[in-house]
Amino acid sequence: MKQDMIVILDLGSTENTTLAREIRDLGVYSEIYPHDITVEELKALPNVKGVILNGGENRVVDGVQVEVSEELYDCGIPMMSVDHPTSKCEKQFSALPNVEDLESFIFDVCKAEANWNMKNFIADQVELLRKQIGDKKVLLALSGGVDSSVVAALLLKAIGDQLVCVHVNHGLMRKDESESVVRVFRDELKANLIYVDAVDRFLGKLENVADPEQKRKIIGGEFIRVFEEEARKLEGIDFLGQGTIYPDIIESGTKTAKVVKSHHNVGGLPEDMNFELVEPLKQLFKDEVRACGLELGLPNNMVFRQPFPGPGLGVRCLGAITRERLECVRESDAILRDEFEKAGLNKTVWQYFTIVPDFKSVGVKNNARCYEYPVIIRAVNTVDAMTATIEHLDWAILAKVTDRILNEVPNVNRVCYDLSPKPTATIEWE
Ligand code: XMP
Repeated sequence: MKQDMIVILDLGSTENTTLAREIRDLGVYSEIYPHDITVEELKALPNVKGVILNGGENRVVDGVQVEVSEELYDCGIPMMSVDHPTSKCEKQFSALPNVEDLESFIFDVCKAEANWNMKNFIADQVELLRKQIGDKKVLLALSGGVDSSVVAALLLKAIGDQLVCVHVNHGLMRKDESESVVRVFRDELKANLIYVDAVDRFLGKLENVADPEQKRKIIGGEFIRVFEEEARKLEGIDFLGQGTIYPDIIESGTKTAKVVKSHHNVGGLPEDMNFELVEPLKQLFKDEVRACGLELGLPNNMVFRQPFPGPGLGVRCLGAITRERLECVRESDAILRDEFEKAGLNKTVWQYFTIVPDFKSVGVKNNARCYEYPVIIRAVNTVDAMTATIEHLDWAILAKVTDRILNEVPNVNRVCYDLSPKPTATIEWE
């Protein structure tokens, strides 16, 4: 293993994640563990150079005062205690150790090396994955999202054609998205990729279903069924790859950042399909996942993809989905993305897309009355998706996008811009 590690023990601090980020920013790998870790568990972790006991006010976890075990102090690994009050006024000044103290502990006391980088991370993961998987096979649902794409690229490097990727096209993908998954993974990276065209199946199930929750349930449930059917056709698969990342396994926004059970992104697979999980990104923050993807040679547009909901364009084609309106969403979204890229807005705006409602309005085209759909543009900024503000777009961009949508997308005669922040609106319309 190439990288040194500083372990943070959670003694009730709200700042574990921030501290881990700070240490990684100094070039040293860091992970958070619960306060009741045993000496054996600590010693089993690779290359631990130091331990930081990160306490909040009075070292309280879930209402109970906690301490680490006595033996931990005598186990020969350098320790640093950080106790910081959590009262509002003091927190701003003394939430974390200052950088000089941190550096002096990490580099002078622990003698850790600043060897945390993506090259070393990848080399270590490749070694670990080969050890874990041996000559067995891994199945991976490859949606084309950032996390699943990076997991696929990493597994491909580690185990080559022992990786079996399944891409389900549910018909609700953005323009050229499924094609690009096939192009990058099958054609360029030579991955073992099963492409499932489930467009008719999904759109059939969704026919005449207008309720947003019902739509989401059908899409999610059907996805698991299709994936399961594909999995059952395969033989000798022992592992399931997952794009779990660090924020999924640390409880964010709660009093403690203790490690909780892994989220199962695919989830819902029947009990008799007994896969062991492979989650090589589970210690990475989102920006580190992107850096890893770039290092593995994935294209920029895959690595810096904006967030996209699981139910895809299905929640942007409002009410009961029709193929006609779905094409209005897909084509107008492609135009919006194209113009945002040309204007450099793809680098600054958090999420942007179009919505097509299930009603028409009167307009005029070629000197004749027409009765067609409106397209709504949404562009928002947010830190955590819990609240969001709208992007103050230039009129020139809005006018350009409007002009192109009206000229290039059939069955559309009107374009609107959504000015609503979250709350009261959500980011998606359904
Ligand atoms: P809302 O609409 O709740 O969306 O303000 C917040 C963020 O979450 C995304 N979103 C989803 N992401 N599966 C996902 O992975 C989903 O079912 C889902 N629904 C919403 C949404 O695009 C926005 O970024």
